[in-house]
Amino acid sequence: MERKSFPEDFLWGTATAAYQIEGADFEEGKGPSIWTDFSHRQGRVFSGHNGDIACNHYYRCSEDISLMRELGVNAYRFSVSWPRVLPAGSGRINRKGLDFYSKLVDELLESRITPLVTLYHWDLPLSLQEKIGGWESRDIVNYFGDYASVVFEALGDRAKLWITLNEPFCSSHLSYLWGEHAPGKKDPRLSFIVAHNLLLSHGEGVRRFRETVKNGKIGLSNVSSHAEAISGSQEDLFAAKLRDQFVNGWFFLPPVSGEYPQELFERLDSYGIAPEILPGDMDLISTPLDFWGVNYYTRSIVRAEESELLGYSEVSGDLRKTEMGWEIFPKGLERFLIKAHAEYGNRPIYITENGMAARDRPVNGRVEDLERIAYLRDHIQAAGRALESGVDLRGYFVWSLLDNFEWAHGYSKRFGLIYVDFSDGQRRLRKDSYEFYRRFLNY
Ligand code: FCB
Repeated sequence: MERKSFPEDFLWGTATAAYQIEGADFEEGKGPSIWTDFSHRQGRVFSGHNGDIACNHYYRCSEDISLMRELGVNAYRFSVSWPRVLPAGSGRINRKGLDFYSKLVDELLESRITPLVTLYHWDLPLSLQEKIGGWESRDIVNYFGDYASVVFEALGDRAKLWITLNEPFCSSHLSYLWGEHAPGKKDPRLSFIVAHNLLLSHGEGVRRFRETVKNGKIGLSNVSSHAEAISGSQEDLFAAKLRDQFVNGWFFLPPVSGEYPQELFERLDSYGIAPEILPGDMDLISTPLDFWGVNYYTRSIVRAEESELLGYSEVSGDLRKTEMGWEIFPKGLERFLIKAHAEYGNRPIYITENGMAARDRPVNGRVEDLERIAYLRDHIQAAGRALESGVDLRGYFVWSLLDNFEWAHGYSKRFGLIYVDFSDGQRRLRKDSYEFYRRFLNY
């Protein structure tokens, strides 16, 4: 499959997120985020790693844009750090922070790279966590809306493609059900309240967008998971359905249908942990969005497990796995895209994340990441097949431009097309997969 087989205006990019790459976490007027706090707490992140310096992208931004230009991408997905713009979460604006993103947008446009801006990629201002309980409180909806308006006003004249939230599944359940992400709580009831408040905030973000940005498009990026039942038994098939509703449907359906998936909602209700829905909530959540962001990495295999809260457990499959332990299954991307096109409101779709972690190591100045090359090639092919079957696919973003802070795994998992030497001044080294993508994009 060649670039030529995709539409002329297809967006080809790479993706990153603020806390994972920027560093300068205590500098230039930035306030702390829940990840600043979480990563400095003992035992939360692999080996005590944190994002204080990360890839030092804040200071090396121009160099990173040059690398993108050389790569030949025509788009770049990045996120804005809320506490860099509003150090206390609301109120006083940190001009230096906004200027950083404004300059980034300008430099991208000068390089003919379309910015795709994510408003929230998990780094909530710590002060909002402390003051109102962050996403646990409904008050967050207005705080998020006000923050969104500030950023839309600053960048919306030039940046036209936006994402409200990255993977609300993770900001709710990884953070509140399993406690693996900031703020690290384990409380199922709270987890679904957080998920509801995130969706409300998404709706509020879209509403503010329509007020502020002219000729722009806005969407939501979700975890996009292909799940299979371990057997054809009714129980296992139903378990796979519950899992699909939990991971996909919960965040893909309400924005287009104004309703939560029924079977899972009933199950949660029977445990007394379904979120309370107030009048007007579902209207706000279903404020019409323009497109979906699909973040696809792997598949999962599911078996019925009535004793589990969600009615299923996951079984390890026997396909080849990445360094994250995730099975490599390109076909799942094709199937998911077809499903999303059919079931989630027939919206344009961007693959806003896809990539893999590998045990990359430079040998004589070279990183031969052949597995990543195969992974990207096969997933791009799968995307192409989905396009041929009629999915309105508009773009593909590799996760990630650079090796970076992989949340609870710290720097132990490398996803980049570019190797970052964290023990040598964050030196960048193009991996072979960078060359692969460059060739794909240029021929
Ligand atoms: C996604 C996140 C992204 C990165 C990749 C590997 O869930 O959105 O920040 O961690 O996984």
